[in-house]
Amino acid sequence: MPFYTSIQINATTTAYFWHITEDVTSLFRAVSLKDTSLFRLEGMKSKEHQKGFLAVRMLLQHIGYNDYDLTYTETGKPVLNDGKNISISHSHKFSCICISNQIMGIDIEILKEKTLKIAPRFLEMKHLENLSEVEKIMKATIIWGVKESIFKIKNEVGISFPEHIFEDEFCLSDKKCSAELHFNNTIEKFNFHFYKVEDYIFVCVFSNN
Ligand SMILES: CC(C)(COP(=O)(O)OP(=O)(O)OC[C@H]1O[C@@H](n2cnc3c(N)ncnc32)[C@H](O)[C@@H]1OP(=O)(O)O)[C@@H](O)C(=O)NCCC(=O)NCCS
Repeated sequence: MPFYTSIQINATTTAYFWHITEDVTSLFRAVSLKDTSLFRLEGMKSKEHQKGFLAVRMLLQHIGYNDYDLTYTETGKPVLNDGKNISISHSHKFSCICISNQIMGIDIEILKEKTLKIAPRFLEMKHLENLSEVEKIMKATIIWGVKESIFKIKNEVGISFPEHIFEDEFCLSDKKCSAELHFNNTIEKFNFHFYKVEDYIFVCVFSNN
């Protein structure tokens, strides 16, 4: 199946999802790639990584952009040539991109028990109290996604998920919440929205500054 869905997060922010069912060859034939992208694609070790990368280009084409409109900074942050903000994420069968007038970062993560096992390493365990096992996995995945997204926004070496990023208390029914980054003697505030997409959690984080 090709284009899966889009989510209008606010007036100027939309996330687009590709559900990857194609093989690498079909995706490759359907996109037009610049030389640097071809080089990157050839260097990817797994077919899954290649498919995720190509599915991002399918999404760009689906909404009127193409691979030539997308470049990367030295640290790997994606940049669109028309000045809009873009963030990119992939996980197993999904690739997604988010385009916005605001600064934001996104993350999509498959729901899996392992995220709960490693939760003490990156979140405040009191935030998982009084939840069922399934709810704990969901909440831990949301918080992980929030921290990855803040990392994508800030793009700074030295940010530690447990030591510098703090999620506020939230319920799964809230669909949104806030978090803070305490780093380099400053406190920055962020707000985030979260969604369940099939067996995945999708998170979009905005900078409040
Ligand atoms: C960069 C990083 C956030 C990517 O996240 P990920 O979950 O591995 O992968 P995702 O699929 O969600 O995101 C990949 C996309 O992020 C984007 N990205 C990569 N580096 C980026 C950066 N420095 N800033 C913003 N976006 C970046 C790219 O668009 C990339 O996809 P593409 O290369 O195909 O275009 C991650 O690799 C990372 O370094 N995280 C910090 C890890 C960390 O501090 N962990 C501590 C745990 S306690």
